[in-house]
Amino acid sequence: MGTSPVGQPQMQQAADVLIPLGTKNIDLVFKVSGRDGRLYQAFLGAKLSNVEDISKLRDAGHIAYATYGTDNLFEPAIRMTHNDGNPSLELKYVSHQVEKVDGDVTITHIKLKDPVYPVEVTLHFKTFTDENVIEQWVEIMHQESKPVTIFNYASSMLHFDANKYWLTQFHGDWAEEMRMQESELTSGIKIIDTKLGSRAHMYQTPVFILSLNGKSGENNGDVIAGTLGWSGNFQFLFEIDEKNSLRVITGINPFASEYSLQSGKSFVTPSMIFTFSNQGKGLASRNLHHWALKYGVMDASKPRYTLLNNWETTGFNFDEKKLADLIDDTKKIGLDLFLLDDGWFANKYPRNNDRAGLGDWQENAVKLPDGIGSLVKEAEIKGVKFGIWIEPEMVNPKSELYEKYPDWILKLPNRPENYYRNQLVLDLSNPQVQEFVYNVVDGLLTKYPGIAFFKWDCNRMMTNAYSVYLNDKQSHLYIEYVKSLYSVLEKLRQKYPHVPMMLCSGGGGRVDYGALHYFTEFWASDNTDPLERIYIQWGYSYFFPSISVCNHVTSWGKQSLKFRTDVAMMGKMGYDIQVKGFTENELKFSQDAIANYKRLSDIIWRGDLYRLISPYEENRAVLMYVNEAKSKAVLFVYTLNARYGETFNRVILQGLDPAKTYKIQEINVLPDARRPNMESGRSYTGDYLMKVGLNIGSATPLTSTVVEISE
Ligand code: GLA
Repeated sequence: MGTSPVGQPQMQQAADVLIPLGTKNIDLVFKVSGRDGRLYQAFLGAKLSNVEDISKLRDAGHIAYATYGTDNLFEPAIRMTHNDGNPSLELKYVSHQVEKVDGDVTITHIKLKDPVYPVEVTLHFKTFTDENVIEQWVEIMHQESKPVTIFNYASSMLHFDANKYWLTQFHGDWAEEMRMQESELTSGIKIIDTKLGSRAHMYQTPVFILSLNGKSGENNGDVIAGTLGWSGNFQFLFEIDEKNSLRVITGINPFASEYSLQSGKSFVTPSMIFTFSNQGKGLASRNLHHWALKYGVMDASKPRYTLLNNWETTGFNFDEKKLADLIDDTKKIGLDLFLLDDGWFANKYPRNNDRAGLGDWQENAVKLPDGIGSLVKEAEIKGVKFGIWIEPEMVNPKSELYEKYPDWILKLPNRPENYYRNQLVLDLSNPQVQEFVYNVVDGLLTKYPGIAFFKWDCNRMMTNAYSVYLNDKQSHLYIEYVKSLYSVLEKLRQKYPHVPMMLCSGGGGRVDYGALHYFTEFWASDNTDPLERIYIQWGYSYFFPSISVCNHVTSWGKQSLKFRTDVAMMGKMGYDIQVKGFTENELKFSQDAIANYKRLSDIIWRGDLYRLISPYEENRAVLMYVNEAKSKAVLFVYTLNARYGETFNRVILQGLDPAKTYKIQEINVLPDARRPNMESGRSYTGDYLMKVGLNIGSATPLTSTVVEISE
């Protein structure tokens, strides 16, 4: 300790502490400043080739997890009020610990503490070396004598210093999910968020792409692609300051959600999952896919069932005979599983339309006098599996459940009930409701262990949200709802670790990696018109691997069966169509296409995705999947529209081995097609295919070509 000129004892400045985290191709470096003991973000970008350069990084004043109340001038990552009413927080570095989980995964825990109040905040970074993905979450704890209130609690805060920032966001609505929009960020704040609670992602999916300096392409540009693993209200906040620095704050939406945190208890945020690519959006997607296939999607290494669903063909109107016929069709066309959708339950208020019955999960005795058991048996005899639809978080006011447990339902006192699709949301924060929801699945599986698949729906968002159970803690509702949902799913997964479950929410209204920890796949949209579907699936493909994206061949859209089939094939394929209505040729075509799909699904589900031509830029959409060994690939070419005289350039392939020679084979050819594409049957080197390309696809609108490429 030295002495200052005025005789005061003076702290000697401590040395800076560097905390480098990274993956194979990314560096994220934090620095504890010896000057003030705070943690700063010093760098995020492409891996620095010389390790010594890390020590030269400056922090540019970017506080890693900015607080509110002391000297921060911009949006904070965290804000809280202490027991004594003091509304400020200061965080100083205490220690950090590096935990090597295995050859791929490392977790770095950085502990910060308020020097005055007993509040501790730990930043956790899980780095996935080979996948080039970083997962970040935060834990907040305190030892004050009474609860503190936290108003903001970001999962992650990242800083960027670029000349320009371009944000790609994915907006939508029912039947028009994942519309991609790219715009330049300007000074001030831009927020992407949702406040819908249960069907939380109906208008906005919790994903974004940020391009630094200029717009990025598929193969060029510095890009951050991120997504929040949280099935409820989220907020992504982008703030550009007066120096043109950008801070990106992501996490649970703090809106109407101040949280009273008890002493000694931790508040753990959901995970922000992100990647950085200096080769554009294509690589960013592949990084996320690699991560998702290994860590993000439940049982991604296991096979998936192709299925026939009955929703589009029967709606609520079916009986045992109709279902038996559909089970026959499932087998006949070559699919693995029959999925019985909405309408099979409730007796006092039968589920014959969407106005009644939700909540009463007993077989409807008129439609199914012999119960689910006989359908499971029927499927077994026919050699297919049986799956079933549920929507366990919801209730129709016209139901026995509503009559019996009015307090189990979210609705405001002193206000009229507010319906959406004639239904209300159950109060999952109530442990009795959690038990009920658990029992919907457990009850069915206990009674009918042959059930091999669930479609778990959630058809409305929250409005008039008020929980009798939470009493004076109404601002906890949006958070507790999601936590309770996860705890039910966790308990189900302990008992049934591998039963595949499709996540659905009136189409794609709830899609995120928090849920995909428990679900094997998700229903991307109720819109199965293949033209629309190309855009929807294109949007999801930036963040979610195709194994998780369910696409069905239906009668939406007037395009040919081939076009509809080819579109459904670039994901997890299923059918929801009247097979009986097929001509002989159509049946033969579909049987062959399903056989092709089964043969190639490993490449489609787990291969590397290359988006070659975007439907947002041209009148076609072209993409391909390549397996890890680069010995097999599948190419999908769709012509969406064609102006008079429009010609299309050759398709230049990507991701192949230039030294290998590949055979080109068109598949999914209609039995009465005059001849396959002229390239079919030819062989080319990977080098040729990636430089000269293929003359493939037609100039006829709404046509498609699928090509199998084999070494
Ligand atoms: C939602 C789903 C549909 C179907 C219906 C049943 O809209 O997205 O696929 O299951 O519910 O009511």
